[in-house]
Amino acid sequence: MTIKKRILSGVQPTGDLHIGNWLGAINNWVTLQHQYETFLCVVDLHAITASYNPKELSKNTLSTAALYIACGIDPKTCSIFVQSQISAHAELCWILNCVTPINWMERMIQFKEKSIDQANNVSIGLFDYPILMAADILLYDADFVPVGEDQKQHLELARDIAQQRINAKFSKDKNILKIPQPIIMKRGSKIMSLIDGTKKMSKSDPNDGSRINLLDAPEIITKKIKRAKSDSSIGIEFNNPERAESKNLLMIYSILSGKEISQCENEFSETGWGTFKKLITEKLIESLEPIQEKYKILINDPYQLNSILQEGKGKAEVLANKTLNRVKSKLGFFEIEK
Ligand code: TYM
Repeated sequence: MTIKKRILSGVQPTGDLHIGNWLGAINNWVTLQHQYETFLCVVDLHAITASYNPKELSKNTLSTAALYIACGIDPKTCSIFVQSQISAHAELCWILNCVTPINWMERMIQFKEKSIDQANNVSIGLFDYPILMAADILLYDADFVPVGEDQKQHLELARDIAQQRINAKFSKDKNILKIPQPIIMKRGSKIMSLIDGTKKMSKSDPNDGSRINLLDAPEIITKKIKRAKSDSSIGIEFNNPERAESKNLLMIYSILSGKEISQCENEFSETGWGTFKKLITEKLIESLEPIQEKYKILINDPYQLNSILQEGKGKAEVLANKTLNRVKSKLGFFEIEK
C-alpha cells in the first residue's frame, strides 16, 4: 500500500468567508482531498489576534467548519478540527517563538498591513500570528499546504524555522520537522476587491460591498456586482495593466464557468460592462446556490457537525502530540522515566 502524502490548511473563523477564501484555498482542497491525506483546521486561535466578539467566536467556528463541507470537503475522508481544541498548537508555537529571530518577523508583510488597520490595538498575538501558523503546519508533518498567494511569505517562514532553527540546530542526522511546500493555484490565488481591483478581497475590509460572501443572498450579490468598480472601456480584458477590475472579474468568471481565460477574453471582447455584470452575477448566484443549500442543512444539524469535529480532533491530536513530543525530546526537555 502506498502511503499518501499529507496536506494541511485552514481558514480563520472571522466573520463570513468570501469567494477569495473559496477560489484561492477551499476549492483547491476539494480537488486535492482524494489524492492526499487531508487535515483541515478552523484556526480560531488566529481569529483572536484582532479585536473580536466572544459571543460570535464559537458560532463562527462551527459555521466555518460547515462551509468547508458545504463547499465539497468530505468529512469521511478528511479530518476537520478546531485549532484551540488541540493544545499542542499553542505549545509548539511557544517553542518556535524562542528560536525565531525577531527580525524575521519584522519582515512579515501581512503584519505590517494589518497593524496599520489596527493602529493602537496591535497585539503581540498579531505579531506572532505567522509562528502559530508555522506550528499548525509543522505539527502534522505536512508535505503540502494549499493556500492563497498572500500566505506564501508565511509558508517560507515556516520552512525557514523548521530547517534553520530546529533541524539544523538540534539534530545532526535525521530531520526533526518535515519541510512543507506551498501549493498555490495559478488561477484564483489572489481574488481582488470589488471596489478596488488593486487590493486583495479581504474579510477585514470594513466595506462589505468589497467582497462576495459565500452566504450572500442572490439580491445582495446582484447589488454588490452592480456597484462593483468598472471603467468606461468596452470589452472585458485580462492583460491590460490599467484595468485591474476587468482582470479580476474576468478571472472570477473564468474559474466559475470552467473556461480558459483566453476563451472568456474572446467571448467578451466587445461586451459592455452592463451585460458582463449581468452574466457574472448569474454565474455567482448559480455557483453559490448549492453551497448555500448544503450549508443550511448542515448548520441546522449541530449534532452531526460536533461529531465530525470530535472525530477530526481525535485523529489530529494523535499526530500533533507525537510531533510535539519528538520536538521536546530533541530540544532537551525533562521526561518522566517510565
Ligand atoms: P485566512 O482566513 O485569512 O484565509 C484563508 C485562506 O484563504 C486565502 N485567501 C485568498 N485567496 C485568494 N484571494 C483572496 N482574496 C484571499 N483571501 C484569503 C488565504 O490565502 C488562505 O489560504 N493564515 C491563514 C490561516 C492559517 C493557515 C494555517 C493556513 C492559519 N494556520 C496553516 C494554512 C496552514 C489565513 O490567511 O487565513
